[in-house]
Amino acid sequence: MTRRIHGKPLGRKIYLRNRRKAYNFNASIRFDKRLWKADITGSIAHVRMLGKCGILTAEEAEEIRTALARLYEDIEKGRLEITDEFEDIHSFVESVLTDRIGDLGKKLHTGRSRNDQVALDMKLYVRDELDSLDGLLFRLLTALEEVIEANTDTYMPGFTHLQKAQPVTLAHHLDAYFEMFRRDRGRIADCRKRMNLSPLGSGALAGTTYPLDREYTAGLLGFDGATANSMDSVSDRDYLLETLSALSVIMMHLSRFCEEIIIWNTDEYRFIAIDDSFSTGSSIMPQKKNPDIAELIRGKTGRVYGDMMSLFTTLKGLPLAYNKDMQEDKEVSFDALDTVKACLELFTGMLSSLHFNKEVMRASAMGGFTNATDLADYLVVKGVPFRDAHGISGRLVLACIEKGCSLSDLSLTEFRKESPVIEDDVYEAISLEACAGRRNTKGACGRAAMAETIAENRKYLNNK
Ligand code: ARG
Repeated sequence: MTRRIHGKPLGRKIYLRNRRKAYNFNASIRFDKRLWKADITGSIAHVRMLGKCGILTAEEAEEIRTALARLYEDIEKGRLEITDEFEDIHSFVESVLTDRIGDLGKKLHTGRSRNDQVALDMKLYVRDELDSLDGLLFRLLTALEEVIEANTDTYMPGFTHLQKAQPVTLAHHLDAYFEMFRRDRGRIADCRKRMNLSPLGSGALAGTTYPLDREYTAGLLGFDGATANSMDSVSDRDYLLETLSALSVIMMHLSRFCEEIIIWNTDEYRFIAIDDSFSTGSSIMPQKKNPDIAELIRGKTGRVYGDMMSLFTTLKGLPLAYNKDMQEDKEVSFDALDTVKACLELFTGMLSSLHFNKEVMRASAMGGFTNATDLADYLVVKGVPFRDAHGISGRLVLACIEKGCSLSDLSLTEFRKESPVIEDDVYEAISLEACAGRRNTKGACGRAAMAETIAENRKYLNNK
C-alpha cells in the first residue's frame, strides 16, 4: 500500500524520518535506565515463579535467572553500559539477555506485559527511595535534637506576625520543626505501607491465562501481597501522588525553616551565622556572605510542587487502563525524589554547622517588650483585674519607648507611678528566665515542659 499524506504519496525517506522522530519521542530509556536494578530484580522473581509453576522447565528458569544475575552484576561493575538506542530499560534487558543466551531469553516475558512490568519496576524503585528518605529524615531529626538539647537556655523572642511576641527558648522554637519532620516521616511510612502490594502478574490489564502464582512473586520481592484488581494494578499511580504530596510537605517545611535561617542570618537580626561552607561570597561586594543554600532549598520547593501538580494533571483524564501518558510519571517523580534527597542532606549539614549568637538573641528578646504579658500576669497575681493590668503594662511599655529602655531597666519608683502594688520582686518576675521558664503546659517553652518534650524526642529517636 502506498503511504499517503494529504492524498499525495509519501516518499520513503519522509516516512522513515517520521518513524524515527516518533520512535525517539516515544522512547524512555534516557530517563528510565535508572530502573535497571528494579527491572532485573523483578524479572528474576518472575522467572523463578515461571519455573516453580511449571510454565518453564526448572532448567530453563534457572538458566535465565543466572543470566539475569550476571547481567545485573555486569551493569553494577560498569562492564555493561546501558545505551540509548533501545526504547526503554525493559527492551534493553531483554535484548541483552537474548543476545547472551539465545532464544531462551525470549521466554522471560511469558505471562507478563510491559504494563505490569513497568508498574512493578516503578514501585520497587520508589519503595527504595522512600526508605532512603526515611533515613535522611531520621538523620535530620537526630541533628535537630542535638541543637535543641544544646539550647534549652538560649533565650530569644518568639514571633507572631514577624513581630516580637513572647520570649521562648531556641530549643522550643526548633522543636516545632522536630514535630514537622516527625510527621513527614509518618507520611512517608503511611505511603510505603499502602503502596506495598505487587502488580506483577496483572498482564496488560486483564490478567493472564498462565497459572501464575502472584503471591509467590510478591513474597520474593518483599511485598505484603499481590494487588487485588489487574486493571487497577497497571494504571494505579496514586502512590506516586502520595509520595509527591509528602515530598511537597517536606519541602514546605524545609522552606519555612530556610526562610527563618535567611532572616536570622541578616545583619539586622544577626541571631545566627551560616557556616562559610554553606554560604557564598558576592562577586562584587566583598562584605557579603550569601545564604545561597538556604535560598536554593526554598526555591526548589516550587519545583517539587510543580512535579506534584504535573502528575496530578497528567492522570486526571485517563481512562482505564494503561495509557502512554503514564510514562510521564517518571521524570517528575525522579526529579522530586532527587531534589528532596539533596535538600535534606544539605540542610542537615547546614543546620549542624550553624553558629548561634546567643547574646544577640537574648538582647533581642529583652528589647522587644516580650515580657509585657508577664508583667500583666504579675499584676493579676497581686490582685489587679486583667483588663487593668493589661492597661498598666501597656503604659509602662510606652514609658520605656519614650526613654528608649526595656521594662527591666525601669526603677521601682517608675513602676510604682503606674501601680502601687508593684514591688521589688517584679524584676525576677519579668526576667527572661522566668517568663519563658514558667510556661509549663504540655508542649510549652518552660523548663519542665521542655524537659518532657526532650525525653519524648529521645524515646522516639531511640525507637528509630
Ligand atoms: N515506558 C513505558 C512507561 O514508562 C513502559 C510501558 C510501556 N507499555 C506499553 N504498553 N507501551 O510507561
